[in-house]
Amino acid sequence: MRRAVCNPITPAMSEQAPAKRLYIKTYGCQMNVYDSERMADVLAPLGYGMTDDPAGADLVVLNTCHIREKATEKVYSELGKLREMRDERLADGGSRMTIAVAGCVAQAEGEEIMRRQPAVDLVVGPQSYHQLPELIARTHRARGERLAADFAADEKFDALPADRRPTGVSAFLTVQEGCDKFCTFCVVPYTRGAEWSRPAEAIEAEARALASKGVREVTLLGQNVNAYAGEGGLAALVRRLARIEGLDRIRYTTSHPRDMDDALIAAHGEVEALMPYLHLPVQAGSDKVLKAMNRAHTAESYLRVIEKVRASRPDIAISGDFIVGFPGERDADFEATLQLVREVDYASCFSFKYSRRPGTPAAALPGQVAEEVKDARLARLNALLDEQRLAFNRAQAGKTLDVLFEKAGRHPGQLVGKSPYLQAVFVTAPDRMLGQIVPVTVESGAQNSLAGVLAPVVEMESA
Ligand code: SAH
Ligand code: SF4
Ligand code: F3S
Repeated sequence: MRRAVCNPITPAMSEQAPAKRLYIKTYGCQMNVYDSERMADVLAPLGYGMTDDPAGADLVVLNTCHIREKATEKVYSELGKLREMRDERLADGGSRMTIAVAGCVAQAEGEEIMRRQPAVDLVVGPQSYHQLPELIARTHRARGERLAADFAADEKFDALPADRRPTGVSAFLTVQEGCDKFCTFCVVPYTRGAEWSRPAEAIEAEARALASKGVREVTLLGQNVNAYAGEGGLAALVRRLARIEGLDRIRYTTSHPRDMDDALIAAHGEVEALMPYLHLPVQAGSDKVLKAMNRAHTAESYLRVIEKVRASRPDIAISGDFIVGFPGERDADFEATLQLVREVDYASCFSFKYSRRPGTPAAALPGQVAEEVKDARLARLNALLDEQRLAFNRAQAGKTLDVLFEKAGRHPGQLVGKSPYLQAVFVTAPDRMLGQIVPVTVESGAQNSLAGVLAPVVEMESA
């Protein structure tokens, strides 16, 4: 096995290479999901095929997230379990398991990982994983390789194989990486580096390759995706990709309110393939807190952006991110967040308790909020957001929506797909409709999904 890794790989050899099992566990955001797929692409020519059982894997990769303390701590507990698995296997005379830590924790505290968990063979940051084959070969000679410190996103994308093996009809596609915004609570500018945009040609080529393999929907990813700096910005990129045959749906995430320009807002009203869903985090509704967060927008300017987007695309579903209990947040500030939520009326949201992250400016601020206060605020915020989400889902009842069927549902004969508004929709439908966009009449909406039936027109067509 070791020799196969070290040898230069040719396509003919890779076909004969012994099958090796790769297990990747992904934490964090969609970009990590994309990166995990790309790591699998990088390792495939070496004979690695995916497995969903870590105990039998030759290589285990934890693709980690540093955003909140809990996410980071999970990595260390998972590593403890992996170490046991690996030791048991060796004691049973089994083969060696290589353990790699990738992602944002690797970037932020690679050395600490190696120190805290000696079972880790290698650590690789988000901009370096194209070098995994070489790193694996080297760690098989000596432990302790660490490659996490550079931020050369362009080198990574140039080195990744052009060919992707999409796992479904909907795929992620990174177009922008990194962040220059430096919100005072956030580690991302330190783990992902400065804002950097891929050239539009490279993105288009990747999107075309995906479409040729049956992908119908792409979600363009960036830590600040609407800061995409290729020619014409994100609006031009969306229009360009909308022309690709077979690519019927385009989404993008995550946006910053500051970068929501008029061209992109106009595209929402004009480009049919651009789905009516916008994830636009605001974090808080109090201008005092927003200022301390260094968000560079106010509650009012955020509401104005939403207003403009809704003027362009009236049915658009809005989602957001919130942090409760940022240092210095008083009851009145939190009330302002609830007020903003009432004004926007969200279709869906993510809300978090503030987590103090080492090295970020907010970690050193006075007025850290007690855990019980954070809990109480989070519960109140979630109650309101859940109510809005349920109302939004219920309001779809009776409507006919286009649904992209993605996989089998919970019950036999059932498929589950996505509405234009990113809702999961359960429908009794034949398997041959997987990967198709089909009109569905919604019968009911629940907290997390819709239930519907195939609209009559489809039954006539397929009869
Ligand atoms: N680039 C995106 C997403 C950043 S991370 C953006 O600007 O919106 C995703 C979400 O995690 C953030 O929107 C924020 O709500 C939350 N988050 C980031 N740092 C956090 C922290 N220290 N504590 C709690 N939540 C945090
Ligand atoms: Fe973090 Fe703010 Fe950048 Fe988003 S915009 S990644 S929250 S620093
Ligand atoms: Fe987490 Fe890194 Fe994404 S910290 S949220 S995996 S950019």
